[in-house]
Amino acid sequence: MTVKLKVWVSRPLFPEVLARLAEYVDVQAEAVERPHSAAELKEKLAGVDGAIVALSDRVDASVLEGNRRLKVLANLGVGYNNLDVEALTRAGVLASNTPEVLNESVADYAWALMLAAARRVGAAERWLRAGQWAGSRMRFDDWLGLDVHGRTLGILGMGRIGQAIARRAAGFDMRVLYHNRSRLPEPVERECRATLVGKPELLRQADFLVLVLPFTPENRHAIGAAELAQMKRTAVLVNIARGGIVDDAALAEALRDGRLAAAGLDVFEGEPVVHPDLLLLDNVVLSPHIASASEDTRRGMANIAVDNVLAALGYGEAAGKPPTPLNPAVMNRWKAPKA
Ligand code: DGY
Repeated sequence: MTVKLKVWVSRPLFPEVLARLAEYVDVQAEAVERPHSAAELKEKLAGVDGAIVALSDRVDASVLEGNRRLKVLANLGVGYNNLDVEALTRAGVLASNTPEVLNESVADYAWALMLAAARRVGAAERWLRAGQWAGSRMRFDDWLGLDVHGRTLGILGMGRIGQAIARRAAGFDMRVLYHNRSRLPEPVERECRATLVGKPELLRQADFLVLVLPFTPENRHAIGAAELAQMKRTAVLVNIARGGIVDDAALAEALRDGRLAAAGLDVFEGEPVVHPDLLLLDNVVLSPHIASASEDTRRGMANIAVDNVLAALGYGEAAGKPPTPLNPAVMNRWKAPKA
């Protein structure tokens, strides 16, 4: 009898996706969604050959210490600031993420937040649900928001998701400016109708500023009090990237004092806890990190995680060729037993 390899899945996932995994390996899937402590992660990962984890699972050197078994760790997300990839590489563990599959859904959602924040959709709905419309004398000049069409869209971080956001701007007849570490190839700039500018100019000119940066130590508080002070008072800020890129306390202050018109936020410093000052404001639309959460995209992400695990463990048609590895060179060391 051959003993099956073991894979731990740190949260409930789509049953049919787990069933596909279970055709090859012994699956231990958590039945309840909850964060895991470093000690729990260490224990779980020590007893398996592969794992599927998500953003709230922080895998660092301490979690991997002494682990001689784990071969592959697939992250359910394109962002992987929860993983210490260097530590995984040192431990001989292949890490993977889920790029591309979510680009269009996240871009859709950035637009949802832009539109909702500009046109006060959240506040208006709360007012209606509270029964305040019936019997009120709503004036012709109540609930005025900001137009989106014809304005300037600024994008900070112009990877594939930023580009997908930019392409949608043509339908709103917007001017598109972007700031990025490197300039996009000219055909891509043309397709996105986007012009590269410096960060100060982006801050000054954008009517809508959308953040699509990866979270790195350098990007922590890339938008803080100083940056907010450079923006138009009529501007709208949208963060679909990562909490911590924006200084949420400074943002709440700017929104409260009318130094920024509105914001749409899907991610927060210290999430799932949200800065209490943001919760008090009506000119901010808040959502619980769901930019990629469409039926098709979350299934696609889960399937890519499974593809990476199976391929890394040597199963299926793509055996030995995980589709989206973060540290593929690790696999060259697998022929030798783990040190
Ligand atoms: C990602 O993929 O990085 C998302 O933020 C997680 O949903």
